[in-house]
Amino acid sequence: MPTCVTKTIELTGHLLDSLTLSKVLDTIQAKGASFKITHLDIGADKHAFTNLRMDIEADNDDVLQQLVEELEPYTAKVPLQFAPETQLNSTITVEHTTTERRYPLGKDDNHPSILMCPPDYFTVDYAINPWMQGVGEVDVELAKQQWQTLYDTIEQAGAKMYTMTPQPGLPDLVFTANAAFVYGDKAVTAHYRHKERQGEEPFAQAWFKEHGYDVTVLPDHIHFEGSGDALIWKDRVFSGYKMRSDIAAHSYLSAASGLPVMSLELSDPKFYHVDVCFCPLNDDYLLWFPGAFDEYGRSVIEANVPEEKRIAVTAEEANTFVCNAVNVGKTVIFNTAPQRVKDELSAKGFTPIDIDMSEFIKAGGSCKCLTVRLDH
Ligand code: ARG
Repeated sequence: MPTCVTKTIELTGHLLDSLTLSKVLDTIQAKGASFKITHLDIGADKHAFTNLRMDIEADNDDVLQQLVEELEPYTAKVPLQFAPETQLNSTITVEHTTTERRYPLGKDDNHPSILMCPPDYFTVDYAINPWMQGVGEVDVELAKQQWQTLYDTIEQAGAKMYTMTPQPGLPDLVFTANAAFVYGDKAVTAHYRHKERQGEEPFAQAWFKEHGYDVTVLPDHIHFEGSGDALIWKDRVFSGYKMRSDIAAHSYLSAASGLPVMSLELSDPKFYHVDVCFCPLNDDYLLWFPGAFDEYGRSVIEANVPEEKRIAVTAEEANTFVCNAVNVGKTVIFNTAPQRVKDELSAKGFTPIDIDMSEFIKAGGSCKCLTVRLDH
């Protein structure tokens, strides 16, 4: 971008908790401008204001003037005083870039590309989530039938199917949702919280490398469980943390994808991955269980997804894994689901299809956990 005009502005208020800063930065970027944060004084508690000074750089005076007007409600009305320690050593600069998005598989909501892993070695051998109570109680043959029904149903709904090779001794490798977060030609592969699943990591890395993805492998101290904890809704990543993934992983997701990442704290151990309580439908609606998030997470979701697009379910409904759905075009595929939720989806123009996933629920996963979308 040719360097043209610059203006320094100061912002004050509950910039972080109330998401004002996100709104401001989005506004700047939407205008194709760049910003550099030079001073940041974060409020000590939730009642205190955060103060910030930034330089905005735009292509021309008109754009800059429009931005100044749009940001007027958030700007400080008297000059702010910044203590020396609030001056950032390294300034935070975000250049506006219009990167050419490359889709190795081509994003196609009606014909998404989906990766699954056959359940040849699936069982419940250990307990790493509250659902895994019945070690050794999986009906392996029934699990294979259920998996095949899911595969066929997704394919019939219009998806292009891919599979990875199952591996002995890795019963949870079937849950390909966790293998990686995928966007364009980038894959950020999993680094599991529990050692029981860490053996899966090299297989996911190999699969994505072999299929032409630019793979990010996280440092050893950062845990992250793939698209099980990072879902895209309208060019934003909604990423869960606490039970399995670390919030520190989120900057790697935005670095890889170039998308803003909304960090959502998960608060109920039964809903330990974001994909069991948050399900984007066609970049339009959202099926979700509000009780799985802390109050900040809920307000972030409410601030981003308009009310008429949010389909909330109760705890009882969420316990059926109804939010762990695979969406292909207008079809929504999930475990045997409550009629109320199916009716609500139908009323919104979707075709709900429920299939019995009992054996996978014994491992704490259902339809969506058994898939990862490759064409975002
Ligand atoms: N047993 C697996 C685990 O606890 C289930 C993973 C479910 N995957 C998901 N994306 N929610 O890790």
